[in-house]
Amino acid sequence: MEDMKDIQWFPGHMAKTRRMISKSLPLVDAAAELLDARLPLSSRNPELNRLTGRKPRLVILNKADMADPDITAQWIRYFQKMGFAAITADSKSGKGVKQFAPALRNLLHEQLAKYEAKGMKGRPIRVMILGIPNVGKSSLINRLAGGKRAKAEDRAGVTRTQQWIKTTDGVELLDTPGVLWPKLDDQEVAVRLALTGAVRDDILDKEALAARLMTLLKTNYPQALSERYKIAPETDAEGFALLEIMAKNRGMLLPGGIPNTERAAITLLDEFRAAKLGRISLEKP
Ligand code: G4P
Repeated sequence: MEDMKDIQWFPGHMAKTRRMISKSLPLVDAAAELLDARLPLSSRNPELNRLTGRKPRLVILNKADMADPDITAQWIRYFQKMGFAAITADSKSGKGVKQFAPALRNLLHEQLAKYEAKGMKGRPIRVMILGIPNVGKSSLINRLAGGKRAKAEDRAGVTRTQQWIKTTDGVELLDTPGVLWPKLDDQEVAVRLALTGAVRDDILDKEALAARLMTLLKTNYPQALSERYKIAPETDAEGFALLEIMAKNRGMLLPGGIPNTERAAITLLDEFRAAKLGRISLEKP
């Protein structure tokens, strides 16, 4: 698994990815852009539009099982308005993944009709999957391939030709997904990605990160805070002060009764990432 925590986005790496994408793009009928349903904007690659040009696009809001369903529905409309096909998916359980092929057929109906008119009925639809690390590319590919995915040839000295992964439903996937970089120079984006665990959070202060999450939850999901941490929805406290309340309510205390906000921060981040606070979206359209 390619993990964003291990990837260094240096210019050479980005140039190689750009080349790989421009080389592969002419081979596919559509680009499938995988996003995290909880933060569709922050999990987008800033160059994808430029890189894929006019190639028909299917947006997949993955990890929809962890996102707020009402907000996810708004995002689906947002991407449809942009002229893309858009579906939700939970690639871990496989829920929603069966929409993939029909959504592509619908997106490409004109092109498919042309092929059919030329007697090319049954020609597979070829797609490339693109997304930042950890968004669920491998999980989705495995789901689409029905678990019988061939191991890619990757021995040194072997010239690797493009391989296609056959899925049921007549869709073929390029076996190497495009691993893209997020907008990490944007501090807000970096914080949101760190909250979901997509990027390393040890570059950021855990208590500061958890305090940001607290404020966000208090504003948008006060019920979750009251149910799980007994924080009154009408409290005026914000950020760090909410972390103190949580520590007290959870009995996380240092000698002298001082709230252990460091422990509370770690617990909050862990529980949020494990979806114990419910289905929460970090961005609205
Ligand atoms: P990548 O190829 O884009 O880098 O992502 P990958 O499929 O490896 O998925 C990254 C993590 O996200 C994995 O968790 C995976 O199980 C999880 N994941 C992928 N899609 C979904 C989804 O739709 N919903 C949920 N809830 N999780 C998803 P992990 O912690 O690395 O492993 P594990 O939890 O599977 O053990």
